[in-house]
Formats: sequence, structure tokens, C-alpha cells
Amino acid sequence: MKIKISPSILSADFSKLGEEIKKVEPLVEMLHIDVMDGHFVPNISIGVPVVKSVRKITSKILDTHLMIQHPENYVETFANAGSDILTVHAEVVKNFDEIIEKIKSLGKKVGFAVNPATPLEKIEGILEKIDMVVIMSVDPGFGGQSFLEDALPKVTELRKIINAKKLNLDIEVDGGINLENAKRVVDAGANILVSGSTVFHSEDHAETIKKLLSIK
Ligand code: DX5
Ligand code: ZN
Repeated sequence: MKIKISPSILSADFSKLGEEIKKVEPLVEMLHIDVMDGHFVPNISIGVPVVKSVRKITSKILDTHLMIQHPENYVETFANAGSDILTVHAEVVKNFDEIIEKIKSLGKKVGFAVNPATPLEKIEGILEKIDMVVIMSVDPGFGGQSFLEDALPKVTELRKIINAKKLNLDIEVDGGINLENAKRVVDAGANILVSGSTVFHSEDHAETIKKLLSIK
């Protein structure tokens, strides 16, 4: 299975975001953009204007993680700003089918994220209809937190379901991934690893991504 890294720009230096992105760009297919609203999560991060600006400087897939309440009210705005994947949280979506249809009608890919406390059963019924599941390995809200090991059996379980149903679905794991635990995450069955602080707080971002990609 091909492993991809989705660097989370949340941990980048925003005073030189363009340069930070250029450093990681040659090694990745996607960039992870963490949008926080101060309601669903206890923190506020970045939003539509940043997606628009990033869209101007890169053709990479913009993997947009909406940690917001009422995501149905915002997916269109983020799609228009240039997001390619729109990930919403299973904990806040009221009508799963409606938001899936809405995102698809905008020509974008659909991701569903589940918090550490949310069981996979919550999204089992929609796996056929979506493109990516994001297994949170931290409680969302902040970069730089410690990886929660309980995410691993969840990833294994999801990979089993995907294989049994022969689905074409990405498993992204988000939060606390570093050079020490990345192998366990991949072995459990993930194919996309989000990495914020490990990449952007390292001296040589590109070298760190290379190391993450070479983990076997
Ligand atoms: C957490 C965010 C993550 C975070 C990852 O709320 O969704 O994407 O930025 O950062 P690290 O890799 O530092 O945990
Ligand atoms: Zn994220």
C-alpha cells in the first residue's frame, strides 16, 4: 500500500507560510488544513482566507479538516476557496446523507473524522459513500499533542471492514504522529499520515517527510 504524508500547516510558521509549503511540496501530494471554530473544539485556528491564499500557490490536494459545528453551512465556501477534500466530524453532522451529497455535488471528496471517543459504528453505514475516514489519534483542538494508542485497534478494525467490503477508501490518522510511532500506524492499516509538529518543528522539513515515508 502506498503511504502518503499530509503535512498539517497548523504547525507551520504562519509568518512565512508560502516558504514553509514550498519546503514540503516536492515530497507530498496533499496538505492538511486544520480549521477550528472555538465551539466544536476549544481553539480557533484558520479559515477560508488561508485556504484561498494557499490555493494560489500550490496545486497539491488541499485536505481540509473542518473541526467546526454546523459544517453543512460552510462546505460550499471552503469548496469555492479551493479545498479538494472536505472532512467533517461525525460527532456534529446531523444528516450524513445530505452533507455527503452536498460535498459530492460540489465536485469534492468526502472525509468523515471520528474523535477518539467515537466508535466506528457511527460511520459504518456510510463507508460505501465516502472517500476517506480520519481516525483521530488525539482529541482535536491542538497540534503537538501525544498520540493516543487506542487509535491503533480502531485503524485495524476499519482496515478489516474495508477489505471485507472491498471498498476504495483512504484511512488517514491524525494527531501525535512521529518517527517513533508512524510504523505502528502504517502496520495497523493507515495509508495517510497527518503530520504537523513532527514535520514543521523539525529543522529540515523535507528530510523529516522522507524519514516518515521510508518507515517500513
Ligand atoms: C488536531 C489537528 C491535527 C494536528 C496534527 O486537532 O486536527 O491535524 O494539527 O498536529 P500534530 O501532528 O502535531 O499532532
Ligand atoms: Zn487535522
